Amino acid sequence: MKMNNVGHKGVVSAVVTGLLDLFSRQDQLPPLDPGLRLDGKVALVTGANSGLGKAVAIDLARRGAHLLMVCRSGIPDAGEAVKQASGNPNVEMLQADLSDLASVAQLCDRMQARNIRLDIAVMNAGLMPLHARRTPQGHEVMFAVHFLANRLLMARWLEDGVIPRAANRTPSALPRVVFVSSEAHQSSPPIDFNRFAAFQDYGIKHGMKFYGLSKLHLTTFVQELERRVNGNGPPQVLFHSLCPGPIASNIARESPVYIKPILSPIMKLLFRSPEQAAEPVMLLACSPDMTEHSNVYLHMMKAKQPSPLALDALNGKQLWECSAPLIQPYLTANRRETECL
Ligand SMILES: NC(=O)c1ccc[n+]([C@@H]2O[C@H](COP(=O)([O-])OP(=O)(O)OC[C@H]3O[C@@H](n4cnc5c(N)ncnc54)[C@H](OP(=O)(O)O)[C@@H]3O)[C@@H](O)[C@H]2O)c1
Repeated sequence: MKMNNVGHKGVVSAVVTGLLDLFSRQDQLPPLDPGLRLDGKVALVTGANSGLGKAVAIDLARRGAHLLMVCRSGIPDAGEAVKQASGNPNVEMLQADLSDLASVAQLCDRMQARNIRLDIAVMNAGLMPLHARRTPQGHEVMFAVHFLANRLLMARWLEDGVIPRAANRTPSALPRVVFVSSEAHQSSPPIDFNRFAAFQDYGIKHGMKFYGLSKLHLTTFVQELERRVNGNGPPQVLFHSLCPGPIASNIARESPVYIKPILSPIMKLLFRSPEQAAEPVMLLACSPDMTEHSNVYLHMMKAKQPSPLALDALNGKQLWECSAPLIQPYLTANRRETECL
């Protein structure tokens, strides 16, 4: 697979790279075969009531998967809409607020009690708030939703067998987890481990920086997860990540009233529809071509490298270890994460 290593020295170069990638056809991967079926598979999407998550949910359900939509809002309307659009009645909604670790743990408890086994998980939920907000545990909300919730979900699902790990499975039978990141991680400053998880206040001016930082946490986490679960051996779970490119979605819902009249037409004109943005997610989640290797990173339909900071194994180890005490109280009683990872 050919990699496009374009640099991201700052926000401007990241935006230019993004626009070049948006309009360039070079090195594009072909989209998923429209005839590929997922009958008998169990798929889950977080943030499935809106934008990219909803488009992915509809496509997964249309292909026959039993679909679990993890949503904070839109219950039951979004589930009904997905059923109707896909023609698949096997669509369930699971309520969770991913900014609250207690709510994430309750979701895990319910899934464990039902003995759910996932074939596909798309970790999509995300947000771009106008100002910094504290979560119930006192963390900054993007740090919590983009990174910490996924950190806990992976620890619990691997521990509980919701994501079943098994060596010697045929690659096509391996569970897959796709993390929706953003190229904004490429221009983020490094993670400050001396102030790890400390709440930092920001307003509209610095929101993008903290968005990129939270996605750097996520992308670094995916690399470390790959190292810890798959190591150098045959993969037990396929972990992939991507930036879907700019999407005309509800992500800018908190933007000030005076910006919306300018932003909305730009988004409609230049940004991709959620259905277009879903293409690389579906490719990573379902394509038979994505079983050869774990840990593919796509920017839209092009394979790339995540940032050097995300690839740095020392950063990954520190991120893992610094975040372990934060999720520890929400793991299953009497079990420590080290037992399974
Ligand atoms: N839009 C872009 O240009 C762009 C570019 C690169 C990457 N991305 C990434 O793509 C992903 C999807 O974003 P989108 O553009 O489709 O935005 P969207 O339409 O706003 O959808 C975001 C989804 O995340 C959910 N979510 C947010 N906070 C949550 C929480 N605390 N608990 C549970 N769910 C929560 C939202 O639920 P509610 O409706 O209940 O809030 C919604 O379903 C995000 O990870 C985003 O960072 C987007």
